[in-house]
Amino acid sequence: MSVIRAVAVGYGHYLPKRVVENAEFEESLDTSDEWIRARTGIERRHFAADGELTSDLAFEASKAALENAGLEASDLDAIVLATATPDQTFPSTATKLQHALKMKGGFAFDIQAVCAGFIFALSTANSMILSGQAKRVLVVGAETFSRILDMKDRGTCVLFGDGAGALILEAQEGTGESADRGILSTDLNSDGAYNDLLYVDGGVSSTQSTGVLRMQGQEVFKHAVSKLAATGETAMQAAGVTAEDIDWIVPHQANLRIIKRTAQKMGVSMDKVVQTVQDHGNTSAASIPLALSVAAANGQIKRGDLLLMEAIGGGLAWGAATLRW
Ligand code: UT7
Repeated sequence: MSVIRAVAVGYGHYLPKRVVENAEFEESLDTSDEWIRARTGIERRHFAADGELTSDLAFEASKAALENAGLEASDLDAIVLATATPDQTFPSTATKLQHALKMKGGFAFDIQAVCAGFIFALSTANSMILSGQAKRVLVVGAETFSRILDMKDRGTCVLFGDGAGALILEAQEGTGESADRGILSTDLNSDGAYNDLLYVDGGVSSTQSTGVLRMQGQEVFKHAVSKLAATGETAMQAAGVTAEDIDWIVPHQANLRIIKRTAQKMGVSMDKVVQTVQDHGNTSAASIPLALSVAAANGQIKRGDLLLMEAIGGGLAWGAATLRW
């Protein structure tokens, strides 16, 4: 049976130049490189320069993805950009990116599911491709989380970083089997009962200010392991594959301990898990496309590999996707 699949045809990423090592936080906070490494796996992260915006990071990653795919912006039908740190309240960062890429026509919009944003954006783009609404979609995750950190809160400010990753999806024919290239399944979830576990204490309607990130880390940790393993299982079942078929887990890069426990729960060994958390920290919606792009560029992920992506963040919102590269 012939079906349409959303196939990845290009990838790219961008990291701001400034690298902030763990040790830099020791100067202003009661923390240590040792604590941060042991509890999170993070060694360093990148922070955007003054005046460098989320759309700038998205632009560099998107340019790289277009180049990688051998495409021009005019070849795209749509841009779906996941971010919780937009340039402005409105218009969307996606339309700023559309303009920067000199893309005429088509449409662009943002998606907000915090750290799970890229999975939600990927699922939305997949649906648009399967329904025939678009043939080529640029899916971007881009964040400047450094702008919403309380630099006096050692429990959160050491965890996050800035960056962007981009993936281009294209409608191609498949057979409907799990051997097809492209997105094989997606699974989305949220539960607003957990709003207060991870949030920003400001906003347009509530305080007319931006606010800073607040998190009950231990509580989020507990939810993360069980919910990520469950959504991963659901996505694998929907694709008709098992943990043994997975070549690479590309997880949300928040904490190495969460990544390890989730992989263990799903029965996938750590040598099949892409790890970038040590160099990027948690870049929220950018974390999965960044990890994807790094692993594809360094030859870890090869054409035909079966990938499982999973992420959780504020909302709580969480989800997973399987993709044959
Ligand atoms: O992307 C969205 C999803 N977010 C996540 O997945 C984050 C999930 N949570 C986590 O990754 C972990 O809970 C954290 C890394 C945030 C914290 O690790 P933890 O092992 O859960 O530590 P904890 O919060 O239980 O804190 C243990 C101790 C506390 O001190 P006391 O009360 O035992 O004296 C903290 O005050 O560590 C202290 N602590 C720190 N010490 C040095 C907290 N942050 C720091 C720090 N440096 N940066």
